[in-house]
Order: sequence, then C-alpha cells, then structure tokens
Amino acid sequence: MTQAVTALAGHPIAAETAPGQTGHPVAPRSEPPPRPPRQGLLRPESLPLTGQEHMLSPVRLPAPDPYLSNVPAVVGGQLDAPLEEYLPDLDPTYEIGETNERILRAMSAAIQAGQRGDAKRSFWSRAFGLYGPAGTGKNTLMRQLAASIQTVDADGNLSQGLNYVEYNVLPDSTLEDALGTVVLEADGQGGTRSRVKLGKLGLALAMGSVVCVNEITRNEKLATALQSALEDGEIIIASPEAGMVRVPVHAASIIGLTWNPGNEGDPDRPAAAPLSRIMPFALPKATAQERQQRLGAFLHQFGDASAAPPQSEQERAARREQQRQLIVRRSYGISADLTVSEAELEAAVNFVSDVEALAGNGAMDREIGRNSRTPTGPGDRQLRSFVVLGKTVGWGTAKEIFRICCDQDDQFDTQWRLIEERFEAHFGRDGQAAARRAAGTAPQQS
Ligand SMILES: Nc1ncnc2c1ncn2[C@@H]1O[C@H](COP(=O)(O)OP(=O)(O)OP(=O)(O)O)[C@@H](O)[C@H]1O
Ligand SMILES: [Mg+2]
Repeated sequence: MTQAVTALAGHPIAAETAPGQTGHPVAPRSEPPPRPPRQGLLRPESLPLTGQEHMLSPVRLPAPDPYLSNVPAVVGGQLDAPLEEYLPDLDPTYEIGETNERILRAMSAAIQAGQRGDAKRSFWSRAFGLYGPAGTGKNTLMRQLAASIQTVDADGNLSQGLNYVEYNVLPDSTLEDALGTVVLEADGQGGTRSRVKLGKLGLALAMGSVVCVNEITRNEKLATALQSALEDGEIIIASPEAGMVRVPVHAASIIGLTWNPGNEGDPDRPAAAPLSRIMPFALPKATAQERQQRLGAFLHQFGDASAAPPQSEQERAARREQQRQLIVRRSYGISADLTVSEAELEAAVNFVSDVEALAGNGAMDREIGRNSRTPTGPGDRQLRSFVVLGKTVGWGTAKEIFRICCDQDDQFDTQWRLIEERFEAHFGRDGQAAARRAAGTAPQQS
C-alpha cells in the first residue's frame, strides 16, 4: 500500500502561493486544461510504515478536488489552477498510547463504515469531536490523520495525505469569515452585483480536507452554521440576490471540532444540535510517563547531533518501535458483515434510552450533566453512531462517545460510573452479552 504511494509521490502542487489564493474562475471553454493527477504527500521512502498510517490504511476516500470542479464558477469554483494544499508531515515520533489508539481505531472504522453505504449520506462518518485540556494532542491527532489518509481518483491513482486546515473560533468569529460571504463587485455596467465568495473553511471543505475547528464551544452560531456541513454535506450561504447558495462539501472532507471543557469558563460541550452530529472523543491529560516522553522528544532537538543519543532517547526510540510493531501487526479493517442482531439492537436501544433517562428532561431529575443548561442525553443520531462503532470497534469502545454526557468536573467519575452500570446491564461487563444472547449461548457468569 505504502509502496504504491511512495512511487506516486512527487512535488506538492503550487506550493509557492498563499492558501486559497491560487485559484481564479475562468470563462467556460471548449477544452478544459490538462490536469495532472494529484500527487499528495511526499513520503520519505526510508520511513518505515508509521502506526497512524497502518491504522488508516484500510480507508480509501475519493481524491480531493483542488480545482473545485463541483462548485459553481460564480461561487468561486471551476478553477483553472489548483488550490494549494497543506499536507502535514507524518510524524514518526507520534506516540500512539492507549487513548490515541482507541480514538484513531474508532475514526478509521467510522470512515470505513461510511464508505460502505450511501456516499451521499456518509457525512456523519467523518464528523468527530476531540475534547480535553490544552496540549493533550487534539490537533496533533487530526494532523496525523490528515497525513495518513489515502485517496483514490477516478483513474485509480492513489495518493496519500489530505489538506489540513485549522480554524480558531473566537466569540466574535463570523460565519462569513469561516464559511463564505457575499461580496459586492462591479457588474461591468457601472453598477454592482453581489457574489458569494467561499471563506477559509468553505474552500477547504469544498476541496476535500481535514478541517479542525478549535474551541467550538466559544461560538454557538458558528457551530450551528456547521450543522448542515456535518450532516448533509452542504455549506449554506445566504445571499440577498441569489437566496440560499448551497456548496457541496467534498466527500473526502473530515471535520474535527475541538474544545477544552471548562477552560476559562467555557461550556463542557457544544450545543446539543452540533454535538449530536459528531462522534466525540476525550483526550485526557497525558500521564506522567507520556509527558516525560514528549518532553524528551522536544528536548532532543537541542542535543549534540554528532554525539551518540543519550540512553534515555535510545530507550524511547526502542519503546516507540515496539509500539509501532504492535500496531502494524493488528488489523484495522472493519468486518465484512456489519449485520446487527435483534439482541444487539435491543441492547443498544435500551442502553441509549437509559443514558437519556439519566440525563433527564428537566433540571430536577438529572443524574448526569447536571451543570448543563439543557439535558445532555443522547438521541437517535448518537444511537446510530454507537451501533456502527459497536459493530466495528466493539461496544465497550463505542460507549466512550457518551462520556461527554457527564459533567466534566469532579462529578465526572460518579456520573460515568452510572453510565457504565447501565452498559453492563445490557452488554455485560465484557460488552459481549448481547452477542452471546444472539448466538443463543449461556449468559456470562460474573
Ligand atoms: N501523541 C503524541 N505524541 C507526541 N507528541 C504529541 C502527541 N500529542 C501531542 N503531542 C505534542 O504536544 C503538543 C501539543 O499538542 P496539540 O497542539 O495537538 O494539543 P491540543 O490538544 O490541540 O492543545 P490546545 O487545546 O492547547 O490547542 C505538540 O507539541 C505536539 O507535538
Ligand atoms: Mg489545539
């Protein structure tokens, strides 16, 4: 797999121009200009397959469209020259600890599952949330995801890496800035006319990119405006003249919303509507050992390059290599049969209903998410994600998406325990009880 990519790797396209500035609309012509196949990431040939690449190797997304061929020219599509892509480097020192492994496995599985079904309805499978304290690696994880994903174009050319864009939300961030806006331009007859111009996020989403929207909890309006992109794969821009302009989100686009619960008074989670459209994963504070490893990797740059690396660095490298080998020996492809048995379906519905009940309807009867203005319980969208993850990465890992239903303060452990109790009631301590019921075997003795 990786060999094929290496062979295809070439120089990045239009690397010297500013992001989003390279393309310009051209008048329709009889013959489109020749378009060289997209080359993707320049992967160092000597670099052994990284863990993150292996975990994402079963994923194949449609190749990005830096010419915006599916975007109307009047909105800034149908470009003559490709938009510049920023393809993050693969980091061979990226540590894939237990948590990152679980998250990347779930993301890989969700994306694969999305590709099995109706492509037009697969946006849910590429919409994620990553939350946790500052510096826990939320953006780093998304960057490594972007560097690892392989895409294939209509002619079967494989390339690796997706454009990566980060957008930092501020309380006064405007939708215009992020997604797209209406600009006035001369109509050539002495007057003006309005034209929709895509913003930084709009362009990236239309081309096919990994888009990280950081601190999403700081701006409810932006989160709401992203909803149609998250669910329906559409960027909707209101234009006074043209009405609602709809721009398709590319089928390779992956959205990651990030936030830091309780940071500087931020809410624990985005509003219910956008939250229900993503699969949220927690990235907790690194353990002391992980922090030591990352610090060591950082300090390594200041060491004497000509001297032999210190013992500690050699040990770290050896541990990383061990971790890498462990991962590349595992399979991350999802099972061919995703049939959900009646027993599993019933357990999933009952478990999610129980979590919903724990989150209550009114403020009085809540046992989880008590700090929230509104109930934090899951609905049908989360139920769907839970079942897809349950069938692909296991029910125990799938339940992680309900951590966000709990308050993220010192009450978390108590509230999460309640969810785990409900999980065990329906899926057993090992998460296999429903599968056993389906197979008609005896219940597990615990
Ligand atoms: N798994 C990892 N292995 C090695 N280094 C990592 C890992 N995760 C994060 N880091 C390093 O930790 C630092 C912080 O990571 P990152 O910027 O992704 O955090 P963040 O969660 O996005 O933080 P913030 O909330 O402040 O934006 C970076 O220098 C990154 O290289
Ligand atoms: Mg960050």
